[in-house]
Parts: sequence; C-alpha cells; structure tokens
Amino acid sequence: MEIRPAEPEDADDVLGVIRAAFGAEAAAHGDRVADLWADVRAGEHLLAERVALVEGRVVGHVGVSRCWVDARRELASACMLSPLSTAPQHQRSGIGTALVAAAVEAARGLGLPLLFLEGSPAFYGSRGFEPASTHGFEAPSRRVPAPAFQVVVLSDRPDWLTGRVVYPEVWWRHDSTGLRDPDLAAVEIALGLT
Ligand SMILES: CC(C)(COP(=O)(O)OP(=O)(O)OC[C@H]1O[C@@H](n2cnc3c(N)ncnc32)[C@H](O)[C@@H]1OP(=O)(O)O)[C@@H](O)C(=O)NCCC(=O)NCCS
Repeated sequence: MEIRPAEPEDADDVLGVIRAAFGAEAAAHGDRVADLWADVRAGEHLLAERVALVEGRVVGHVGVSRCWVDARRELASACMLSPLSTAPQHQRSGIGTALVAAAVEAARGLGLPLLFLEGSPAFYGSRGFEPASTHGFEAPSRRVPAPAFQVVVLSDRPDWLTGRVVYPEVWWRHDSTGLRDPDLAAVEIALGLT
C-alpha cells in the first residue's frame, strides 16, 4: 500500500471511493459526501488531499480543509479532517489508520496549530485525537455530539486560542455540519449520551 498526495487525475477515482465507502453505510449518503467534497475541492478552502493506492488503484482517501476558531482575540485559521474513506473491500487492513496519520502529518506541514474532526471517539481516540472540549473548543453546531468533536493540537498554541469552531459556508450549503435526526439520535444512543 502506498500513500501519496492526490493528483488532479485522481479526482474521479477519489469521488468513487468516497461514494463506495459512505454508500455502504446509508443509501444516498455516499453521493452527498462526494458532492460536498467536489465543491470543497473546487473552492478556496482545500488544504491537502492524500490517497491510498493498492496495486496502483485508489482505494482510500482523506481530505484536509480550512476552518477557523472564533477566539476572543481573533478569527484564527485551523484545519479539519474530513472526509475519510476506504473502499469497502479494502477496509480493516490499516488503510484508514495510515490515512489519518498522513492527514495529521500534512496538517502539521501547513503550519496550522489545530486539526479538528467529527467522528467516532473509539476510532480516532486511539489514533491521536482528543475531545476538543477538553482544550476549550466548541463544535460549530449543537448537533455535533461532544465526544465526536475531536482535535489534535499540532503545535504550541497561545492561551487565548479557544472558542467556537467555524466551518466554511460550503459545509452548511451541503448541510454537512454535524448530524440530524434520526442519525443524530442513533449516534447519541451509541455514545451513551441519552
Ligand atoms: C472508518 C474507515 C475509514 C476505516 O477505514 P479502514 O481502512 O477500515 O481502517 P483501519 O483498517 O485502519 O482500521 C479499522 C478500524 O476501524 C474501525 N471502524 C470501521 N468502521 C468504523 C466506523 N464506522 N466507526 C468506528 N470505527 C470503525 C474498526 O473497528 C477498526 O477498529 P480497531 O482497529 O480499533 O479495531 C472505513 O471504515 C470507512 O471508509 N467507513 C465509511 C466512511 C466513514 O465512516 N468515514 C469516517 C467518517 S468520520
């Protein structure tokens, strides 16, 4: 397995992997995430993309894009990891773990202090992420269950750098900030929050 930065010619394969990975979990969900990612990529907030290849074919993908922390002193740039996808037939062989590590490395190379994400604490918690609330960060919506909103602190940050995280407009245009019922309620039950 090889991990490298995504090239322009990977664009369609990447959307195919996103569709397959998310589509396996809920009908039509994969198309929504792929459409979101196509728009993020076409906009001004894409920061990094990594692909995983097996036998020369794209089987995994991770994206890193810009967000901000609405701190009292200033609107500070940060980044977020989303989406993370492994093609279903290649899951559980370490590709997702390797892509998370590649995304953290890419984010560190950008010189930004924080990498946020929404996701399973069981998966990301053992891969370097911590609950963002323990560092003084609020999710961009109350519809992000607190344990799911996670962060890697990439570098020394000043004490004033806390506050609510702000996503670019494209995430709201695609209604892809947090979850909505019934998915939200199901995740809250799974996390033991209700
Ligand atoms: C989550 C995902 C990227 C993991 O990819 P992968 O290549 O199978 O990952 P790895 O082989 O490195 O690790 C497998 C681990 O993922 C866990 N896992 C798989 N799907 C998961 C899910 N939906 N939620 C939480 N954990 C999950 C497995 O239990 C295993 O955990 P363990 O190593 O602690 O036992 C992949 O399952 C996927 O594409 N899922 C659909 C899209 C998605 O949910 N993306 C993440 C959104 S935050």
